Amino acid sequence: MTKDFLRLWDLGSEEIGDIIERAIGLKAGADAGKCPLIGKSIGLLFEKPSTRTRISFEVGIYQLGGQPVYMTPAETQIGRGESVADTARVLSRYLDGIVVRTYEHAKLEDFARHSEVPVINGLSDLHHPCQALSDLMTMKEKKGRLEGLKVAYIGDGNNVANSLMEAAGRMGLSLNIACPEGYEPDPDTLELARSGRGEVLILRDPKEAAGRADVVYTDVWVSMGQEEEAEKRRRKFSAYQINSSLLLCAKEDVIVMHCLPAYRGEEITGEILEGPRSVVFDQAENRLHAQKALLEMLIK
Ligand code: CP
Ligand code: NVA
Repeated sequence: MTKDFLRLWDLGSEEIGDIIERAIGLKAGADAGKCPLIGKSIGLLFEKPSTRTRISFEVGIYQLGGQPVYMTPAETQIGRGESVADTARVLSRYLDGIVVRTYEHAKLEDFARHSEVPVINGLSDLHHPCQALSDLMTMKEKKGRLEGLKVAYIGDGNNVANSLMEAAGRMGLSLNIACPEGYEPDPDTLELARSGRGEVLILRDPKEAAGRADVVYTDVWVSMGQEEEAEKRRRKFSAYQINSSLLLCAKEDVIVMHCLPAYRGEEITGEILEGPRSVVFDQAENRLHAQKALLEMLIK
């Protein structure tokens, strides 16, 4: 039986804990030069642009001894209408695992149903689980614990927020999400996350959400595929910015996180992004280590 990673919930708390520990070890240089993916090829099928996910996977696969194979719809027959099912069946005859970045989450599930090798979600409209692994690793690294950590997510209830809710449910975070009405995270994911160990509250007031927070987190107001709504979204989210006034509500040693790319002056001020509380570049680096630990676990 192959194991897919389409949403964070696909892994249990113990497995996530193991990945974080292993990722911290890999970052510190454990088993450098050990090549568990030797002779293996991992596909990267990307329907949206990417800087971090693509490059951290390509480099991570190479560092583990494997070969990354990057594909886009325009350069494959998908762009000319070959079905998801046929593509998945064919690619899994060549590859040992596939990372897919796409729009509809249902398409990713369809792909995984027809794939005979593990499928990893490299971001869909609904989830961004690889991001959540690196987020948890970064919180553990900076704060020394996850259970009971107070995390405030300010902004759009999007894929990053959904995966963060699942992270709360699995690892016992106390998560406050502040978003405007109509931009809440996915209700089914919220229910699932609430069935777990953590606590997830949906609030309107960013200052209330950030009260005594250990971590303040945000993401873009306009996700990939939402460009047509950009102006409306900028209006709706204007009060949902991480800035110095908001951070006064949080704990003095609060850390600021952002999955990147960031739009300075929109969801976060340049001052805060570049300031001493920001850990965003460590968080971006941790994508590499966390995904290497994930690949070691999934690719047999
Ligand atoms: N955070 C993240 O997934 O970035 P990319 O879109 O650059 O991969
Ligand atoms: N929510 C953003 C995340 C980018 C990494 C998007 O989907 O575009």
